Amino acid sequence: MIRETVGAALLLATTGASAAADRRGDDWPRATEAAMTDAERVVLTSSMMPLPDGPLGDQIPEGAVKGAGYVAPIPRLGIPALTISDASLGVSWALGARGSQGATPLPSGTAMAATWNAVLVRKAGAMIGAEARAKGFNVLLAGGINLIRDPRGGRSFEYLSEDPLLSGVLGGEAIAGVQSNAIMSTVKHFAFNNQETGRHFANVRISEAAARESELLAFQIAIERGKPGAVMCAYNRVNGPYACGSDWLLNTVLKQDWKYPGFVMSDWNAVHSVEYAMHGLDQQSAGELDAQRYFQTPLQQAAARDAAYRARLADMNRRVLYAIDANGLRSRPVRPGGSIDKAANAAIAEEVERQAIVLLRNRGHVLPLASKVASIAVIGGYADVGVLSGGGSSQVHVDGGPAAALPGGGKGLFNGYEQYQRVTPPLAAIRSRAGEKVSVTFRTGAYVGQAVAAARKADVAIVFANQWQTEGFDQPDLSLPRGQDALIDAVAAANPNTIVVLQTGSAVAMPWLDRTAAVIEAWYPGARGGEAIAAVLFGDVNPSGRLPVTFPADTAQLARPLIDGSDTLEPLDAGKPQPGKSMTIDYSVDGADVGYRWFARMGHKPLFPFGFGLSYTGFSTSRPVVRNETAEVTVRNTGSRSGATVVQLYLIRRAGVPMRRLIGFQRVDLKPDEQRRVVVPLDRRVMADWRQGAWHLPAGRYEIAAGDNAEALGDRYTLDLPARSWSVGH
Ligand code: BGC
Repeated sequence: MIRETVGAALLLATTGASAAADRRGDDWPRATEAAMTDAERVVLTSSMMPLPDGPLGDQIPEGAVKGAGYVAPIPRLGIPALTISDASLGVSWALGARGSQGATPLPSGTAMAATWNAVLVRKAGAMIGAEARAKGFNVLLAGGINLIRDPRGGRSFEYLSEDPLLSGVLGGEAIAGVQSNAIMSTVKHFAFNNQETGRHFANVRISEAAARESELLAFQIAIERGKPGAVMCAYNRVNGPYACGSDWLLNTVLKQDWKYPGFVMSDWNAVHSVEYAMHGLDQQSAGELDAQRYFQTPLQQAAARDAAYRARLADMNRRVLYAIDANGLRSRPVRPGGSIDKAANAAIAEEVERQAIVLLRNRGHVLPLASKVASIAVIGGYADVGVLSGGGSSQVHVDGGPAAALPGGGKGLFNGYEQYQRVTPPLAAIRSRAGEKVSVTFRTGAYVGQAVAAARKADVAIVFANQWQTEGFDQPDLSLPRGQDALIDAVAAANPNTIVVLQTGSAVAMPWLDRTAAVIEAWYPGARGGEAIAAVLFGDVNPSGRLPVTFPADTAQLARPLIDGSDTLEPLDAGKPQPGKSMTIDYSVDGADVGYRWFARMGHKPLFPFGFGLSYTGFSTSRPVVRNETAEVTVRNTGSRSGATVVQLYLIRRAGVPMRRLIGFQRVDLKPDEQRRVVVPLDRRVMADWRQGAWHLPAGRYEIAAGDNAEALGDRYTLDLPARSWSVGH
């Protein structure tokens, strides 16, 4: 361990004015609001859901584009309609509401985070934003960045990671990419919608410090970087009030502390009273789903009799107008029917997947597959059909819709079917890459004996194993459903060269791990997932993904071994509104220590730590040197193939107290023997505590290390810092 003492200047420079600085002095929003009639003042304050199978039925207005939402235009004032679509992984399928017209599906959010590549994630955001624009949407409900506090959460696949810095940075870049098309993105779901069980009524209990040091910090960073036009508040309650009616979340944290200039839209069916307007909500989404369209007549009446409501209503309008103007929705209006280069867009999705696949195990370098492999038995996972995708409002399909849809249970607008995307199936991609000289057989895996017989005859067995996640309900545990764990066990017993390819939304258990030769995590792999998987198996791509979420050895290691509410609610209804029901989700156990921070605090040994990922080459990383809010490290490719690694910097001890916090990261591509000095920006908020309305760094010794992952840490850099506090914005 090397020690250095540094002056107060280090890590203490002010970051200057917040990126979310108040730019609301603009004339157009103010002048336009002033020119509105009373009736016009309640146009922008609510949307409707223009879906043929939705509650509006055939009352869908003329100019609406079928999707998640629509706000009528006010042509007299030059205000465009808001045409709103889901979501973070591409323009959603919306139950096929737009005929057979699909879109380019990105890999899952967890896959995007596994790239740790801010530039690529921005490009992916720009791609889906361009498709939204071409289809006539000017608002994309992207930016799902709730922390994966529990890997069993049904929407983990849609979110990014368990870490506030990684989720904040990548989420912000994705949003900036979407908005580079002169359309607007959201960031969502503000805040603490980390599980689906009880999402419509659960009350999340969390201290202010823990909230600010974990998920709120992810939102703060994402908003600074991405400048989303809108923030979507969550369904659940937070310390009492519903998130969409939380004065603390919306008025104090978001608008006052962070000086957020845009508007807050509710989640769909999340508004319970007109008073939410006074608590900071600016737009009621799909008002027909709530008990009343509170933000139409009731809001107009409240404004007529109460000056506080009147002032608020003006502010609500100005905020929506600001977001319209600042994002170019007026100056560059959208028109449906734009052209889309599907091949180019699929190539972007493929690049994400190539960088997202995580090599978890590679005994005896069985991968990449050697040229002497003459026969391959591919087994299971519907690898002959397509690739798995996550369910719910974010579901994306290519033209023509799903290749297969298996009933997953549950009813409702979006939920119910485990869907495989109609893209090159992994089996076809493997066949094409293997060439004619290699025999490639396929067994569905439905019958274990048949799969084992095929595996026995082949040089290599590749088992595809899947775990479907969807909005609407959570996984009860970390197992692979439908007997897949037993299938892998049996195949691995029959063939020592068994390779498992996982398509999962987040972490799963691997009771069979020691008996396999290799394991790759492919996530939900998107538009050209089959090709990307084959490219990794055959070595055309050197895997470089790193886990954005801890893979626990057992659910007993989690802060909540049982998902709150899962023992009392019917699993398939757990994500639905249930009037009169209440429950508490208690985050006082783990507090700000989400994921690997919790594992470090408890001394738990995970199956695979956060940040973990193998490569076909090797890397060495030097001890970091910390200077002026940056850390410098030298990285070297010590192997014989080109590849990429991710420099991960962790704070591991602060003022005598052990801790584990990711404080900076940078992906680096290196040729064999190439060495590079990398300067990684650090975010001092991640190192700090939240205390009495400000960030606070205690005086004392700080120990920082570069790690291959959250557990494999290199030599420490030590610095002594005086105590320091600074205000919320920075
Ligand atoms: C989801 C949101 C989504 C909205 C509109 C809700 O069920 O929670 O993420 O944007 O529906 O489809």
